[in-house]
Amino acid sequence: MLSENVRVWKEFIATSSQIYKIINKKALLAANPVVSNTPSSDNELLRLSILAELDAVSLYEQLAAKAITPEVKTLLLDVAKEEKTHIGEFQSMLIKLDPEYAVELDTGRSEVEKNNGKENSKKSLDRGDTNIV
Ligand SMILES: [Fe+2]
Repeated sequence: MLSENVRVWKEFIATSSQIYKIINKKALLAANPVVSNTPSSDNELLRLSILAELDAVSLYEQLAAKAITPEVKTLLLDVAKEEKTHIGEFQSMLIKLDPEYAVELDTGRSEVEKNNGKENSKKSLDRGDTNIV
């Protein structure tokens, strides 16, 4: 049980250290078209940062799902939550700098709420509720 967690962490650390070696050589940055094609706009940098944070959330949640000890699972989920905060920080700045993004985000939110409202009304009808608002 514990040895499985140790194995997963060793694998994760080995992978991380390989990534850091690549970053130190700037190979990763050079390979990334968004970062390497300077000058980049701050909006592009923020979008890339959001992508990296989303990827981190996914990684930590997947690792948490594999964690054997509750302490490791809790730690990974806590870190995943922190990454979501980082997404919020980058997104808030992007909303300030890209008015179109802000408008489209609101449009998307409205569409989801509208569709959820339709879905909830349908479920109410399916259940035979009579007091649908
Ligand atoms: Fe982060």
